[in-house]
Amino acid sequence: MAIREIIRMGHPTLRKVARALHPEELNSDPIQNLVADMVETLQDSGGIGLAAPQVNESVRLAIIDMPGGPSRYGEIPSLPLTVFVNPVIEVLEDETAGYWEGCLSIPGLRGLVERPQHVRVVSLDLEGQPFQLELTGFTATVFQHEFDHLDGRLYVDHIRDMRNLVFEDMLDSVSGDLDLPD
Ligand code: NI
Repeated sequence: MAIREIIRMGHPTLRKVARALHPEELNSDPIQNLVADMVETLQDSGGIGLAAPQVNESVRLAIIDMPGGPSRYGEIPSLPLTVFVNPVIEVLEDETAGYWEGCLSIPGLRGLVERPQHVRVVSLDLEGQPFQLELTGFTATVFQHEFDHLDGRLYVDHIRDMRNLVFEDMLDSVSGDLDLPD
């Protein structure tokens, strides 16, 4: 296992639509090593999600690990480390909420993004078996953010008012009157 370099906004791989994985590929050394390295890289970064394109591998694979409790996003619900292969998101309710999102590929910045708050995820696991999750609130936002990476989208693409793109250490100055998770 190894910690891989997380590429930053401006790298062309972050703007590509990643290719789907064949279930037969999942057992291969390159994919197994990629997942192991992504887990180590995510744990080293202190983030809660990492998509393969962020380590310059343009395949539809992402991991999410929300330990729960206090984090740089405030108090968050817990979700054990899960691997998603070829995930698809379906919006179940149009109601949105805004969170100050950050991204390991855009270090130092946070932006206010509105997203639907009730979604279903249909995905394969690393054994190629299908599974589903239904998600609400901040967790729904996290999944939409991560899976956007598989389509070459970054959270900054969703910011409606660029005054709501700020340096992380300035967040306290702007977030006072906004609806933040706590
Ligand atoms: Ni990101």
